[in-house]
Formats: sequence, structure tokens, C-alpha cells
Amino acid sequence: MSPIVELKNVRKSFGALEILKGVTFEVNKGEVAAVIGQSGSGKSTALRCMDRLETIQGGSMVICGHRLEDSNVDLKALRRDVGIVFQSYNLFPHLTVAENVMLAPRLVKGIARASAHGIAEAVIAKVGLREKMDCYPEQLSGGQQQRVAIARSLAMEPKLMLFDEVTSALDPQLTGEVLRVMEQLAADGMTMILVTHEMGFARKVADKVIYMKDGKVHEMGSADILRNPSTPELSEFISEATEH
Ligand SMILES: Nc1ncnc2c1ncn2[C@@H]1O[C@H](COP(=O)(O)OP(=O)(O)OP(=O)(O)O)[C@@H](O)[C@H]1O
Ligand SMILES: [Mg+2]
Repeated sequence: MSPIVELKNVRKSFGALEILKGVTFEVNKGEVAAVIGQSGSGKSTALRCMDRLETIQGGSMVICGHRLEDSNVDLKALRRDVGIVFQSYNLFPHLTVAENVMLAPRLVKGIARASAHGIAEAVIAKVGLREKMDCYPEQLSGGQQQRVAIARSLAMEPKLMLFDEVTSALDPQLTGEVLRVMEQLAADGMTMILVTHEMGFARKVADKVIYMKDGKVHEMGSADILRNPSTPELSEFISEATEH
């Protein structure tokens, strides 16, 4: 099976400061990869590079067949294939849930209003918010808004979903709702890369765990490395993470 995500020796600097110092990993179709590591280790930067929100200075990166180090990479095609969800939901406050979700299919794919509404209904149902279709974001809880943000990505039928600490702003109950949606997506076969502090969740759903430290992959393996880490650094990270 050929990987849908392939990073080889990826380097990324901001000014003189090198943030990614040769990052290499692969993710196959249908796999869930959890990226973990200390604050500042480069997790978000790596994720943002995968959607070409940042450019890389060295190495190679192929995402869903798009070669990102090429200066003429088709960004529109890339963004159709890759959905990205952040900690902040960034929904349009003046649009209803359905309208927020219909926006990209209509504007980016040029899908007619009626069909876009049908797509929106399906993905909103998938995240368990069918009854909130006509609500405005401010009428929803944080967890519900985050599920709308996930639905908005799903409406584009991405081949790969990237999640950057999507539950960090939520209290435990709302976190659970969002994690259940992500777990269902994983069960449906979606290829996903998630940056997370939720060790329990990573242990449960991740096929691959990528532990980053100082801009490099320090340890990588199946979710089993969360139970049996090989390096003292990952071992220490896990014990700190589970104390909180
Ligand atoms: N746009 C930017 N300009 C300059 N430096 C940046 C920029 N974005 C990130 N950095 C720096 O890159 C380093 C890695 O940041 P990054 O956000 O990737 O870390 P992270 O692993 O996601 O951390 P956290 O767990 O806190 O989210 C940090 O030192 C950060 O200050
Ligand atoms: Mg981050």
C-alpha cells in the first residue's frame, strides 16, 4: 500500500530559527496517526505544512499525491483533498449551521444550492447535530460548534483530515462528544492525523503514534509505545501527560 502522507527529512525555519529539523514519517490510507509531544516541539507547524499553510525549506512532502515542495503545486486541488480543523472553530456567526457547512461545496466546488444542502444535511447528521441545522453558532455549545467545524470539512469529502488539538478549549464533557465523532470517522475509514494531548484517546484510536521532540520525530510506533515507550523522553512525557 502506498502512503497517502509521506514526509522525508522535512525542514522548516522561521527566520533563522529552525523548527522542523528533518521530520520523516508516513501515513497510509485509512490509518489514524496521533502526533504528541511537548509544547513548542513543532506539532502544529508540521500539520500546517501538510496543508501548505506554511512552506518547507528542505526535504520532501507528498500529501494525497500533491508534491508540496513544488512551487507550482495546485493549492486548490490540495485543499479539496485535505480538511484541517483547529482548536478555534472559526464559524461565520451570521450564517446558520447549514449555511456554514454549505459554503465551501458551493463556492469551491460550484455545487448547486439544493445539492449542497443535501450534502450539509448528511454531514451534520454524521456529527449528531441534525436538529441544529438552522441554528446560529452562538446558539451552540463549544463542543457543538467544533462538531460543525468538522462537518464543514467533511462536506468537501476530503481524503485526509488533519486535527490540531481540536478539544483543547473544551471542558471534559464536550471533549467527549467531539472525540466520539472523531472515533466514528476513524471507524468509517477516514485517514486522519491528529495532534492531541488526549493520551487515552490516542491509545484507543491511533494506528500510529508519532512523538515529536525538538523538531524531530523522537519515537514512533503503534499505540503500544504509549504503554511501553522505548526512550526515556517519551516515558517521561507520558507520565507527565497522564498526571494532569
Ligand atoms: N509563524 C511563526 N513565526 C515564528 N515562529 C513560529 C511561528 N509558528 C510557530 N513558531 C515557533 O515554532 C515552534 C514550534 O511551534 P508549534 O506551534 O509548531 O509547536 P507545537 O508543538 O504545536 O506546540 P503546542 O503544543 O504548544 O501547540 C515554537 O517555538 C513557535 O514559537
Ligand atoms: Mg500546537
